[in-house]
Amino acid sequence: MPTVSDMTGYVSRQPLGARVSLYDFQVDRVDLAGEALRLLGTPAGPVLDVGCGLGQYVDRLTAAGLTAFGLDESAAMARHVRGDAGALPVADGACGAALAMHMLYHVADLAAAVRELRRVVRPGGVVLASTNDLDDKSSLYALFEEVDFGIAARFTLADDAVLRESFDEVVLHRWVREIVVPVPEPLDAYLASVGLPREIEQLGRQRVRAAIEASGAFRTTSVVGIFACR
Ligand SMILES: C[S@@+](CC[C@H](N)C(=O)[O-])C[C@H]1O[C@@H](n2cnc3c(N)ncnc32)[C@H](O)[C@@H]1O
Repeated sequence: MPTVSDMTGYVSRQPLGARVSLYDFQVDRVDLAGEALRLLGTPAGPVLDVGCGLGQYVDRLTAAGLTAFGLDESAAMARHVRGDAGALPVADGACGAALAMHMLYHVADLAAAVRELRRVVRPGGVVLASTNDLDDKSSLYALFEEVDFGIAARFTLADDAVLRESFDEVVLHRWVREIVVPVPEPLDAYLASVGLPREIEQLGRQRVRAAIEASGAFRTTSVVGIFACR
């Protein structure tokens, strides 16, 4: 079974943008940045967004009057600092809170990255870590089931144990939503963003069209959550 590289999508911003755009079709859309803001409350210091990606959390936090810094390993994504979650270039307790949104499944040493998040946040501050459940968007991933793209399985909503090694309190906030896509183009863009072998991408496109022809839309279920850790 071919394996797709974990980091294929982060050399430039467009592929992640294509994947995030799929959530435009989420029914009763979960505003994860809004939920993060709610869970952060009023941090007693700047918020470090580790693996900031397109920077949507930094933008929302800043717009809400918080001081936020975006760190990412990818030069294309790093908003303020380029760095590795496994060795954050930040002093102990320098942050009022930290985010690790949909990124911990990428890090080489998950437990070490969680310890780093704990280290940089001052006592009493919260670390928010988001991810998907193991059955998240399963019908979407079935479009390219011939490829091993199981990185997300490295840190799912079932993996609170690694957080509990560093934090006294871990509370999960979880949302289940349908994604209903009536036209093939957004899914074509998603498939193109993953960096699939050409024939498997083609097969995926055919499956999308078959699903839309059969039932008027491509449907999948997103299961997402945020761990609030103290
Ligand atoms: C799925 S994206 C999530 C982006 C954003 N947090 C969000 O929720 O939309 C994962 C991000 O983590 C970054 N990343 C992966 N491994 C990393 C590491 N070891 N240290 C810092 N950033 C990393 C990637 O470059 C990418 O921008």
